[in-house]
Amino acid sequence: MKIFDEIESEVQSYARSFPRIFNRAKGEYLYCEEGTEYLDFLAGAGTLNYGHNNDLFKEKLLEYIQADGITHGLDLHTKAKGEFLEAFNEKILKPRSLDYVVQFTGPTGTNAVEAALKLARNVTGRENIIAFTNGFHGVSLGALAATGNSHHRGAAGVSLSGVSRVPYDGYLGEDIDTTAYLEKVLADSSSGIDLPAAVIVETVQGEGGINAASFEWLRNLEKICRAHKILLIVDDIQAGCGRTGSYFSFEEAGITPDIVTLSKSLGGYGLPFAVVLFKPELDQWKPGEHNGTFRGNNFAFVTAKAAIDYYWSDDHFSNEIKRKGEYISQRLTHIVEKYGDGNFTTRGRGMFQGINCVDGELASKITRKAFQQGVIIETSGADDQVIKFLCPLIISDDNLKRGIDIVEEAIKSVCANETEIPEDTCYFDDVYHEAS
Ligand SMILES: Cc1ncc(COP(=O)(O)O)c(C=O)c1O
Repeated sequence: MKIFDEIESEVQSYARSFPRIFNRAKGEYLYCEEGTEYLDFLAGAGTLNYGHNNDLFKEKLLEYIQADGITHGLDLHTKAKGEFLEAFNEKILKPRSLDYVVQFTGPTGTNAVEAALKLARNVTGRENIIAFTNGFHGVSLGALAATGNSHHRGAAGVSLSGVSRVPYDGYLGEDIDTTAYLEKVLADSSSGIDLPAAVIVETVQGEGGINAASFEWLRNLEKICRAHKILLIVDDIQAGCGRTGSYFSFEEAGITPDIVTLSKSLGGYGLPFAVVLFKPELDQWKPGEHNGTFRGNNFAFVTAKAAIDYYWSDDHFSNEIKRKGEYISQRLTHIVEKYGDGNFTTRGRGMFQGINCVDGELASKITRKAFQQGVIIETSGADDQVIKFLCPLIISDDNLKRGIDIVEEAIKSVCANETEIPEDTCYFDDVYHEAS
């Protein structure tokens, strides 16, 4: 099948790393046309926390479609939306004492971030936003201005303004608390940093290399925001929906953001869906000011409600994530000690962890080798130096072990220079053409 070569844009990215034609998926497995089975340790970049085609949600979705439930309804009140809101309020917000209004934005993470930034700017009357080194918030212009990655920023074509960058936790070394720097520049009227409308932060930076902020750092950040009347936005698009062990990634730090963005696994079934949550007093939108044809996705309301009902009605799922996260920590620590030659480090928390191989080329050799052995796993970080373990949260213990075993073998063989992967770039093209 040459069609991808012929008419699909050069902008494609994951397809280059995993040059197969996939035609089926279930749970933690992806299958390609020839029937080869892959363990999915990429999970739609955090969209498939509950696995592919989760039967529990599929049944609800099929029932809804069969009954001619509303598919598209702009932002009309629909039964599906009402039921999602009720489940979200009763089982997610209220048990956590979170008093938030829910805004349905366009169905991508970046659109939720756009809405969050606009709201913060309009409510405070200030333009500047504080974002962090290695932060990733999406690639539409407003969100891109808050994103650090130069590859993505380079495609903007216009200047990206209105954002000041501050070092994230650990950026200047383990012993330097970078919130002290933020506090200092905010207190200094000659620092050149305008008083911001908001600070936008990921509690664990996904695309930036699985950098986890300490709870103390997050608490300091919240204190500074309160002291200077700056809104705190937690971008929980990748770290939220259970990835770190709790529904929201900020829960364990004991902070309460003013604004939260959610997307990716929110819809449960991999369906496009995004929301912004914010404190009621910030709800100063005028009708339709931030609109969009696809605000709220009725199919996703159905599967999102099912995800909440099945997985978040009690602590069982959260405890399971923590248990598996502990296992991942132990395994990665062991791998780093055994093969890292003193250079590799582990990072992250919950089921959002990675191995920093320092060298991007080495990390990509490892993930290519793992792919040859049946695991789909990606890298992240400024130089793609971090191997990112992002399997579905529902993965069985056996497959979690098997996936990590395969990556461990790949690390062992690449570090021992046993890899058979040719250095030249033809590798992907060859495999790609074989597959097609
Ligand atoms: C933390 C975070 N924010 C925003 C986004 C952008 O989401 P989307 O790709 O759906 O626009 C991402 C995507 O990876 C993300 O990880």
